[in-house]
Amino acid sequence: MSGTSRRRAVRPGEPEIPRVERSSDRVWRIRSLAVARQVLRARHATTQAGFTAEAIPKGYLRHHPILVSDGPLHDEQRSMVARFFAPKVVEERYAGMAAACADRLLGSAIAAGTCCLDDLALLYTVEVTAEVVGLTHAPASRMAPRLVSFFNQPPVDVTRPDFGRTRAMWAKAAVNALVPIGRFYLADVRPAIRTRRRQRRGDVISHLLDEGYTDADILVECVTYGTAGMVTTREFIVMCAWHLLQHRPLLERYRTAGQTERFAILNELIRLEPVVGHLYRRTSEPIEVTEGDQSWTIPPGDLVDVCIRPANADVAAVGDDPLDVCPGRPVTAGVNAAALSFGDGAHRCPGQPLALLETDLLLTRLLALNPRIAAEPTIGWDNLIEGYQLRGMMLTFDQVR
Ligand code: HEM
Repeated sequence: MSGTSRRRAVRPGEPEIPRVERSSDRVWRIRSLAVARQVLRARHATTQAGFTAEAIPKGYLRHHPILVSDGPLHDEQRSMVARFFAPKVVEERYAGMAAACADRLLGSAIAAGTCCLDDLALLYTVEVTAEVVGLTHAPASRMAPRLVSFFNQPPVDVTRPDFGRTRAMWAKAAVNALVPIGRFYLADVRPAIRTRRRQRRGDVISHLLDEGYTDADILVECVTYGTAGMVTTREFIVMCAWHLLQHRPLLERYRTAGQTERFAILNELIRLEPVVGHLYRRTSEPIEVTEGDQSWTIPPGDLVDVCIRPANADVAAVGDDPLDVCPGRPVTAGVNAAALSFGDGAHRCPGQPLALLETDLLLTRLLALNPRIAAEPTIGWDNLIEGYQLRGMMLTFDQVR
């Protein structure tokens, strides 16, 4: 075993330099963490251009979806949902149910003597997030495949005109998105709205109803939370387990540490292995960015591609050996321990405290069972969030049978 655990999700052909570049088709690629933060924090000079946001028709919605909304309305939306996601709130409200869910799922795995961790992690993250959002009508085992099916999309490249898709691919994309969304609406979202119209429950859907959101508005938010919250956390859990189970010193440290140190380990793992690989912004005003004695002006109308994997491994921000796991590493002032894995600025992920808490609750319980890896996961790449997908991680539980 080597002295340290190194980055596993290395995307073939992804360049690590230059730190800032502009291509002839007006696409900026940013790999410097400091410059990336300046772009993501240029609050009112950019709009969301990731997740095919620029292709989503918004005219039929009364409220812009949080992920693709910008400006003062977006600030207001964010401050309203913040109360569901503050660290103290998630700990008080959701830790008990998440722990019970983890115990139940692991109980079944122990009884079977084996489990596929990516399947278990999906059920777990769906059940926990569903509770926060209010999607509690159908069991997680039924809703999970409906959520995963959104991702079955033809390739997309948001840096190219028409996203690099032909008309036939757009037609396929529409069918592949609308059919699962229709199913999700009928089976999960509509029944949840009906119940909460009669009686509010203190979850995100109840809050959206109070704010006058229509069924269509709520559906779009549920798709966001479903994919942004559940699917990403699933990958993160599997990646953490993979690193920890193959690196005994790190595993021992995690097992014996208190919560603060365990969270430092999780933040370091997600810095190294960001689930979302690229963030995109369209500039609406010129943005001045600087690094050392260099400066650039990004003109309005250009697309900025923030390349998270190289930015999170930027020696200038996260110190030496950036591709190694080094929990508690000294980072430059102002840099988050997870670097840009949860974004930065106006769209920064509100779900980071929940993602860390639920991951920790599952991992502490799982690792206490001394699982063995029977099959390592294979790494695939998701086209929409440009992150890794880990599939087929089989664990056995010989020592507790
Ligand atoms: C490991 C797990 C997670 C990762 C890696 C992750 C990552 C991200 C990133 C990078 C963004 C920023 C997008 C941008 O700037 O364009 C984001 C936004 C968002 N995330 Fe997360 N996320 C995770 C978990 C969660 C959870 C558990 C929830 C909630 C249940 C959540 C809800 C959201 C929402 C609502 C947004 C949109 C915020 C906005 O645009 O204002 N995420 N997430």
